[in-house]
Amino acid sequence: MRIAIPRETHDLERRVAATPDTVSRLIALGHEVTVEARAGAAAGFANDAYRSAGAHVEVDPETVWSKADMILRVRPPRDDQIAWLRSGAILTGYLNAATSPDLLETLAGRGVTSLAMEAVPRITRAQSMDTLSAMANIAGYRAVIEAAGYFGRFFGGQMTAAGRFAPAQVLVIGAGVAGLAAVGAARNLGAQVRAFDTREACRDQVHSLGGEFLTVDIEESGEGSGGYAREMSQSFLDAEFALFREQAEEVDIVITTALIPGKPAPRLWHADMVARMKPGSVVVDLAGEQGGNCDLSEPDETVVSDNGVVVLAPTDLPSRMAETASTLHGNVVVNLVEHLGGREIAIDMDDEITRAMTVTHDGAVTWPPPAPEPAPTPQPAASEPEAADATAAVAAGQPPTRPAAELGTADRQRHRAWLPVTGLLLAAVWVYLRWQFGGPGQATGTEAQAFVQHLTVFVMACFVGWHVIWNVTPALHTPLMAVTNAISGIIILGGLQQGSRPLLGADGSVEPVAVFGLAAILLAMINVAGGFLVTQRMLRMFRKG
Ligand code: NAI
Repeated sequence: MRIAIPRETHDLERRVAATPDTVSRLIALGHEVTVEARAGAAAGFANDAYRSAGAHVEVDPETVWSKADMILRVRPPRDDQIAWLRSGAILTGYLNAATSPDLLETLAGRGVTSLAMEAVPRITRAQSMDTLSAMANIAGYRAVIEAAGYFGRFFGGQMTAAGRFAPAQVLVIGAGVAGLAAVGAARNLGAQVRAFDTREACRDQVHSLGGEFLTVDIEESGEGSGGYAREMSQSFLDAEFALFREQAEEVDIVITTALIPGKPAPRLWHADMVARMKPGSVVVDLAGEQGGNCDLSEPDETVVSDNGVVVLAPTDLPSRMAETASTLHGNVVVNLVEHLGGREIAIDMDDEITRAMTVTHDGAVTWPPPAPEPAPTPQPAASEPEAADATAAVAAGQPPTRPAAELGTADRQRHRAWLPVTGLLLAAVWVYLRWQFGGPGQATGTEAQAFVQHLTVFVMACFVGWHVIWNVTPALHTPLMAVTNAISGIIILGGLQQGSRPLLGADGSVEPVAVFGLAAILLAMINVAGGFLVTQRMLRMFRKG
């Protein structure tokens, strides 16, 4: 297949859809690659680097577009560029499918198969093709750097002979991909960071990055479909605004990243909150392109409020780190080409990921994709707002392919995990009662006393272990695994000591202590073997090739 990488023509765009490295990967898959002259210049990739990777460099843009079977882009094409495309060609890039019906009609009219990169579903299988998350990660990081450029103080606290500085106070609103990247970057610069999100699932993530998670006194879940948010009630928003008004007086930097799929960005940082901030403070609004989270935001403008607060709403943050962004986007595109078949590219409309991102095909607009089929196992019915959000997610370019049940909140996991422990305890009580009151082999007083002691220790160990493990932040799960493996070793020793006695007593009855000893060895062995498996899997993630 002839694959072409044209130069991006949008004003602020510096990214390119393929790097010399990803070009050589496409060539290794058996494709011919043409790169438009200077396509990678703004991202730091020279024509010669593409030539060395095996690409043909073409100066005439019309030749680049018209000769290609597949075009790799970052931004949507212009009408004159679409007119150059051959019928049957495949186009990939951000197409803003949810908000650009005319573009889709034009592409379908030309017989182009278009794959919208923003429509890759947020499911595990599609992670390697999720360029939206890769860009949001860059945007969150870069937002902190932009804020630092305007902020006239250190981020970290300083105590020197010449003077003392308190650490900067940063508030991040919306702790999705971009928000979490901002929390991490601001913490790394030494700031004290707090974050707010309507989704409870973000709490642990913010904590594990060293941030404080703010809450309001209203019980309402912001969890929508597919890992995205849903719209909140007015009373929740009022409580949120009251919290922000208090915060406005304390914080130096506000980074807003709040977004609900399919809706204009929610207005969360109002003019009166800006007015409460200290002079020299900075607001960076990432949602400028969707209407902005802050009342004062003007996309790509630097606004200074009457009280000296700088409000930025840059829409090109990934482009400000064009080399990194192009490398990530290029890798994602190669992963997509591999997903489509590698050497023999085919559009399989039965494939969940391909279907979700194919917005025009065979001369027709195929957007939005059909709602995903219900899961085969019975799930608790989605509430009305959740169902509405599922539709909104589809309309916004992110089909809600991840069922809410799969998201599994920590609480749900906790409840599920209680089942085996409760079962184990009931079994122990049943064995004890039988041993004490009925059947052959009734216990002597000393044996019964010893058994009760063991049972008490066992119950307490379950209870304490339970609380200790569930309160460990996700970032510490790996060391936790090492500790549980060490504990498993001790359990195996105890189990060996107890389980090595005969299984049957002198009168032929089963010895519960020996049975529990053997059960303890078995359970601990599962933990040890699982630890090895997980470690192996993690090590594989860091291996090249
Ligand atoms: P995301 O969907 O992962 O995160 C958005 C978060 O906002 C969610 O966690 C959601 O729960 C939260 N949220 C929604 N309503 C809220 C409310 N009322 N209060 C507090 N939190 C609320 O989105 P992602 O990928 O992190 O992107 C964030 C924003 O950054 C989007 O607007 C996106 O378009 C934008 N973006 C901007 C770029 C730029 O150059 N300016 C580049 C990349 C992304």
